[in-house]
Amino acid sequence: MNRDQSVFGDDATDFYPDRTLPEGIAPWGLSFGQGMHACIGQDLASGMSFMDGDDIDAHLFGLVPTAVQTLFDHGCRPDPDDPPEMDASTTRPYFGRYPVIFGA
Ligand code: HEM
Repeated sequence: MNRDQSVFGDDATDFYPDRTLPEGIAPWGLSFGQGMHACIGQDLASGMSFMDGDDIDAHLFGLVPTAVQTLFDHGCRPDPDDPPEMDASTTRPYFGRYPVIFGA
């Protein structure tokens, strides 16, 4: 659903968080559900939008972005000698394995 081209456009599969969306569509699609059982941990998990004038030291960036940023801070990158492979057990575009290396 988060790659629905009728909602997110022809480039729906591209990572493009700044795309213009139809009114009422959240940039994160339905990742956190919707309605009365929507995720209560969304802000904790994904953080709050950073707005002009926000204090960067007091901002809630979220567990997932913080973890990903920490990986990048430690030089995490795809292993050039061991390319990623898609998960062959599903038609969904999921990685089955994505080997990485660390360091400068
Ligand atoms: C990237 C991380 C997360 C994703 C993608 C995610 C996604 C979701 C989704 C899709 C639902 C709705 C399930 C449904 O419709 O029945 C949900 C519910 C819920 N999430 Fe998350 N979640 C995340 C992180 C968290 C965190 C960090 C917490 C708590 C600290 C949390 C607590 C909950 C709870 C308690 C519900 C049930 C709400 C209810 O049924 O009223 N989630 N989550």
